[in-house]
Amino acid sequence: MKNAQINSEEIIYQVYPKSFLDTNHDGIGDLNGVIQRLDYIKELGVTAIWLNPIFDSPHVDNGYDISDYYTVDPQYGDMSLVATLIDEAHKRGLKILFDLVLNHTSSKHYWFQEALKGPDNPYRDYYIWKEEEEKEKLPNNWKSFFGGSVWEKESETGDYYFHLFDKEMPDLNWQNEAVRKEMIKVAKFWLDKGIDGYRLDAFIHMEKAAGYPDARYADPGKLASAEEFFANLPQVDDYLREFSACIRETYPNAYLLGEAASAVPERALNYTFPKGEACDSIVSFKYFPMDEKKKDHRFPLESQEGKLDITAFKKVMDEWQRKVGEVSEMTLYLNNHDMQRAVSRLGDPMKFREESAKTLAVGMYLQRGVPVMLNGEEIGMKNLVLKRWENTRIECIHEVYATLLDRGISKEEARNYLSSISINASRGAMQWTDERFGGFSTVEPWSGVNQERMYNVAVQEMDASSILTFYKRLIQVKKTPLFTHGTYEMLVSKSPIMSYRRVYENKQAFVLSNLSDETQESEIDLPLFSDQDAVLIVGKYSYGEGTIRLSPYASLVIKTTL
Ligand code: GLC
Ligand code: CA
Repeated sequence: MKNAQINSEEIIYQVYPKSFLDTNHDGIGDLNGVIQRLDYIKELGVTAIWLNPIFDSPHVDNGYDISDYYTVDPQYGDMSLVATLIDEAHKRGLKILFDLVLNHTSSKHYWFQEALKGPDNPYRDYYIWKEEEEKEKLPNNWKSFFGGSVWEKESETGDYYFHLFDKEMPDLNWQNEAVRKEMIKVAKFWLDKGIDGYRLDAFIHMEKAAGYPDARYADPGKLASAEEFFANLPQVDDYLREFSACIRETYPNAYLLGEAASAVPERALNYTFPKGEACDSIVSFKYFPMDEKKKDHRFPLESQEGKLDITAFKKVMDEWQRKVGEVSEMTLYLNNHDMQRAVSRLGDPMKFREESAKTLAVGMYLQRGVPVMLNGEEIGMKNLVLKRWENTRIECIHEVYATLLDRGISKEEARNYLSSISINASRGAMQWTDERFGGFSTVEPWSGVNQERMYNVAVQEMDASSILTFYKRLIQVKKTPLFTHGTYEMLVSKSPIMSYRRVYENKQAFVLSNLSDETQESEIDLPLFSDQDAVLIVGKYSYGEGTIRLSPYASLVIKTTL
């Protein structure tokens, strides 16, 4: 079968190490914590772990600002713990993927410190510089992802250096062959230590448009996003393929999961096809079209996304499945550390937390592709409710809070809103128990934690109807050939029920998920089935005369023989 060669059978579990488990009582998760929970991860049924960066870093951006690619951040552990982690993971049949930041380093990195010494320094050309042409005039109007200009004036020479993210994260110059070689060296270093692959951070930005032309749709004198000039340029493909080829020469099976936030299906295909020449799979942030009409008008509109546009979402999934899933390998995900928690963002964390957590997972993960799950989603973790105001990346947070209270909004609602727009929304400490600090630590976690009686591992492990128990069953179902290698067909309907059919050899499955908070009906011809054919059920369903009826956020998965 054609698809059999395409899809690997990985199920990736993303561990945000800083928030996973703290074992030395400093409020920060650590490698020892990951090691201690390997059995837990194994029991979920996943096959691989992706760890966010664990290298030396001043933590301007939680480790994505790397000051030494060859050293483990002492707050996480040391080299011998990495060795233990790899070893113990492998003993359990789990792969380890590290997170490799290709686009930039920390300003504290040796290369940048050298580069600062002046234009003659050999490392100067590792970064992107522009001379000041007119006094106090920025080289162009591009806005950085973290606010302000992408250009920062360096005091010695008065030249500007380029940074797409924080000013402490200067972009590397990938046109420089020496940079490309250094990154391959880094990648091989950890592969030599035994890891199984990488998540490639923000690689789509490795090339910027020649001459740095001004963003076109900017108000005069204002900065604007210029994605078209610094994301997914054709040259990125070449860098990626060169990188991949050099690595796969020695490590043909290394798994490469690319982060390509703004990639559309056509781009994603370039990055994943043919298999073995670039990434295995990529994460695009374009899976979840939001309905802007559904914003809450009591809160500032510009910072809100609205609610999931279910009709558009079904179309988007169908398109990705046809253009990418059928040809190369697609990533399936609901959460990551840069987004809100899926139950809060796409589901209903108040009225239907259990049902929406389960049904979102059914709808997403039983499609064709490789699941990537963020730690905590398996127990239905919602957005972290902020208790501290610092490091949220929200401008004037105190003022915003005060204004909301003045408008008569309750403290709880104001906090929930601020939580949803905070950079740490999904980075709350893992909820292991209902103890103080969620069993994550004996001291206050760096991020804060939601202490919840029902939403923690200990309680859910004992409960046959919990989200956790459900996730384990779902993962087992996902691992059968029907769901890893079967064909995919979206069953088109106007209803907010997402329905698709998978076929493999003489087996077929129908997956039906009501993504809305109301009972819904859909006209779909299902084969004759009995209750035994239902491999997964969430909520309530009824079927008769070609119409399926599902309660709010209910799901039904049936499997029959053809
Ligand atoms: C990626 C990471 C994000 C980080 C950025 C800069 O998008 O996922 O957390 O801030 O790259 O490295
Ligand atoms: Ca710790």
